[in-house]
Amino acid sequence: MADGSTPPSVTAADEIAAARVWEKVRSRVTPMEWRGHAPLVARINQLKREKNAVVLAHNYMTAEVFHGVGDFVGDSLGLAREAARSDARIIVQAGVHFMAETSKVLCPEKTVLIPDQRAGCSLAASITAADVRLIRERHPGVPVVTYVNTTAAVKAETDICCTSANAVQVVEAIAAEFGVDRVILLPDEFLARNVARQTAIRILAWQGRCEVHERFTAQDIGEIREAWPDAEILVHPECPTEVVEAADFAGSTAAMSDYVLRRKPRQVVLITECSMADNLACDAPRTQFVRPCNLCPHMQRITLANIHDALLHERFEVTVDAAIAARARRSVQRMIDLPPPLVPARYDLARARHHVDVELL
Ligand code: 13P
Ligand code: SF4
Repeated sequence: MADGSTPPSVTAADEIAAARVWEKVRSRVTPMEWRGHAPLVARINQLKREKNAVVLAHNYMTAEVFHGVGDFVGDSLGLAREAARSDARIIVQAGVHFMAETSKVLCPEKTVLIPDQRAGCSLAASITAADVRLIRERHPGVPVVTYVNTTAAVKAETDICCTSANAVQVVEAIAAEFGVDRVILLPDEFLARNVARQTAIRILAWQGRCEVHERFTAQDIGEIREAWPDAEILVHPECPTEVVEAADFAGSTAAMSDYVLRRKPRQVVLITECSMADNLACDAPRTQFVRPCNLCPHMQRITLANIHDALLHERFEVTVDAAIAARARRSVQRMIDLPPPLVPARYDLARARHHVDVELL
């Protein structure tokens, strides 16, 4: 190993399992790359068994991580649910820091590891707990919903969390519970605008942005339609409203996966992080993926090599102050306890009935 430690022995079964992964990812990973990945996939799977660990892999992980070592894969909501259910001793979060914090908040007794501590998120960095306290002071009695893409300290200040898979449902549920017609939805401005178009509840929004999705424009969608007139265009609701309006479908990463796997479009464009299309392409070989996409520099920090080292050395542990974790858990658990949607939520702005815009905080 690069750090001089002894590698764990790999069983024949682990090697066979790694070879099966190659069959799945070979359209997206070159043979040269796979020669480097295969031993790591086998060793990580061995270490997981030895240490009673699981890897929770977000849809934006690279194909060798997602298909090679992810025990549970999915969107933010799905991974939070899996963390809550897991009975492993160690959770390795193959995703960004706020996701690891969410796992720790839900499983305080477990060791939660993040393979690279620099894996942040522009949305989580856009707002602090002090900001939320100030907003509450200025808007007493208005419930506060926070997107899971926030720190545990921010979640601790709020009434309930949401993800892009359930934001409309959460906003309406909390408004009904409080008996009000206004809700504060933090911190993603575009998600808030896209939610506002789908509900009669008035939304007060913060000006946080996802650095990956804010870059897509309606002009991009127009150019894609011209170049690939048969392609179905799927977008994430962290994109600007005019992008969501111009798309054929908008939903969380899990909703986009579900769309492709169930409807099997001949040609598709995923307006989101690039790895998502690679991962789906391995499971949907008949669909042609047209490639305009943006990379998330934070998600890309997670690699097989640092997952391996995280497991081997049980580093880097994510901790959350116990009092903050208890308050944040209330907000996350309240979201998890809502009935799961029968079909993944979609943002159908073309047929939206509500054209009231958000009020910026
Ligand atoms: P999902 O909840 O749709 O997986 O999105 C998380 C994320 O970080 C999107 O940028
Ligand atoms: Fe954050 Fe955007 Fe990266 Fe998701 S894609 S982790 S929202 S910066």
